[in-house]
Amino acid sequence: MNNNVIIMEHPLIKHKISMLRDENTGTNEFRTLVEEIAMLMGYEALRDLPTEDVEIKTPIETCMSPMISGKKLAVVPILRAGLGMVNGILALVPSAKIGHIGLYRDPETHEPHEYYCKLPSPIDQRTILVVDPMLATGGSGSEAVTFIKQHGGKNIKFMCIIAAPEGLARLQKDHPDIQIYVGQLDRELNENAYICPGLGDAGDRIFGTK
Ligand code: PRP
Ligand code: URA
Repeated sequence: MNNNVIIMEHPLIKHKISMLRDENTGTNEFRTLVEEIAMLMGYEALRDLPTEDVEIKTPIETCMSPMISGKKLAVVPILRAGLGMVNGILALVPSAKIGHIGLYRDPETHEPHEYYCKLPSPIDQRTILVVDPMLATGGSGSEAVTFIKQHGGKNIKFMCIIAAPEGLARLQKDHPDIQIYVGQLDRELNENAYICPGLGDAGDRIFGTK
């Protein structure tokens, strides 16, 4: 495993992912869990946000103390399912800007198709956190990162809750320059390009469709 991939080891994340996988977990609980996992993972993924010392007057004295510096973080969910992770990140960084990339997988070819892209500017000066619960073939994630680069994005991080080895390998190969955060690395893809054991269709489970 390259060191641009970080797989979460925290027992709280593992526990919540197990609850997500359970087919008996309903929409409401599923949504809450996705948000909570995104927040826990975000804490790890944002540990290198730049800071600068600013002057603060405490009730005791004035001191220099670090605060997040630079342009605001951009969170970019891949629609639809990535939307479920946004509030978890906003709980950590309420001032983050939100971009959107709309991609869907063709059910036959499993290839991603773009239908929407809107990013906060100036995108080249922001840390960009791309979020999607699932990295299966890696087609959607890789394409999303390519779009962001085409729009000028440079400092890109990708965060998913569950990855298949195939998708992780593709994202690493296509974008060796980005940092990837994975909640849990699963066994393999099945013949329909679903992750095994996975959690099923993340978008449908978040939004209660199907
Ligand atoms: C799911 C998921 C990822 C993609 C992963 O989205 O949220 O975006 O599949 O698969 P891949 O790695 O093989 O590209 P889907 O296309 O089902 O769209 P949805 O979020 O609108 O349900
Ligand atoms: N998209 C999902 O939502 N789940 C999978 O297992 C694969 C792609």
